[in-house]
Amino acid sequence: MKLSTLAVHAGQQPDPSTGALNTPVYFTSTYSYGTAEEGKARFAGQNPGYIYSRFANPTSTALEQKLAALEGADEAIVVASGMAAISSIVYALTQQGDEVAFIDPVYGGTDAFLRNTLVRAGVTVRSYNSAEDFAERHSPTTRLVLWEPVTNPTLKVVDSQKIIAVARQIGAITVCDNTFLTPALFQPLSIGADLVMHSGTKYLSGHGDLIAGVVAGNGPLIQRVRTVALKHIGVPMGPQEAFLLQRGVKTLPLRMKAHCDNAKRVAEFLQQQPQVAAVYFPGLPTHPGHQVVAQTASGFGGMVALELHGGFAACAQFLNALQLFAQAVSLGDVESLACHPASTTHAAMTPADRDRAGVSDNLVRLSIGIEDADDLIADLAHALQQIA
Ligand SMILES: Cc1ncc(COP(=O)(O)O)c(C=O)c1O
Repeated sequence: MKLSTLAVHAGQQPDPSTGALNTPVYFTSTYSYGTAEEGKARFAGQNPGYIYSRFANPTSTALEQKLAALEGADEAIVVASGMAAISSIVYALTQQGDEVAFIDPVYGGTDAFLRNTLVRAGVTVRSYNSAEDFAERHSPTTRLVLWEPVTNPTLKVVDSQKIIAVARQIGAITVCDNTFLTPALFQPLSIGADLVMHSGTKYLSGHGDLIAGVVAGNGPLIQRVRTVALKHIGVPMGPQEAFLLQRGVKTLPLRMKAHCDNAKRVAEFLQQQPQVAAVYFPGLPTHPGHQVVAQTASGFGGMVALELHGGFAACAQFLNALQLFAQAVSLGDVESLACHPASTTHAAMTPADRDRAGVSDNLVRLSIGIEDADDLIADLAHALQQIA
């Protein structure tokens, strides 16, 4: 079935006891297994059946089935946040003495986790500037490589096929953070990635009403991530979030089309404005990563970044003058959002790391919502005029 059909139907069965079409929200921490023998069999993995909601909950199971279908994965697991997804993957699949590689830049929280926390577990962390840099300088002992195909916040494009090809040669596990493009536009598993992960907080949810993480991929790897995430670290998704997320995902293909169309209009407008020093949007034919995204994805996403002249002060004048865009971190909501990454999402990085990653003080990140593009452009035009 096609993606729009799967988004609506996958993982959803009428409730056997009532016929309710929507999966109920199972607010329960534990499950009665009835007899001591059944309890023993469930804990030994001999009988199926729920035990305890930190391990599994029927609302989450239905969502996992929907997400696995959208990603073309054997299995998916849902967890409490995108950071819970990243840390669970890395702790489950690497150990002391291993190396983890990532392509700069990544979300600031991911960067801080890898550089500041993971290294304390005795894992070496190496960053590369691009897929080409990884191909040239990679270490043969890399155990896992993580990248964002369209990076946060600079909208740089990373060639996923190149990374997967190099990783195969050295036997490294490939993990694609597909938060920006979503399976509606790009399915990393279909080109050979081992795992795909998301901050489900963003486009998958789409409504800015929850925090969520998703990992999907190869069955044995997901089993290992599941054990670490749910049994050891203990970061399950709650049933309320699982319900809201499955509801959001039903409209993902529709919403992504609106985000992509609006972002293209906004990027084309910004390109013409004298106050704007640079526009970063992979949908512009002038963007260096345009061809790579055009060949592997069915759209360019809803994120646009721009550089102004005049650092934080000019960015603040622009941001403070916006009326329709909310000044907020996060992204992928139906509402348009704007932020200054160097002082917010990427503030935890050192200035040197930010410089290296291209997160300058002139950079503004826009998450383009699904409002009417004319209204968004009018808001941006007015705010640009307020820069001294
Ligand atoms: C690309 C990307 N990955 C991961 C995360 C972390 O997700 P969460 O905030 O749901 O923990 C974010 C958050 O902004 C993100 O943008």
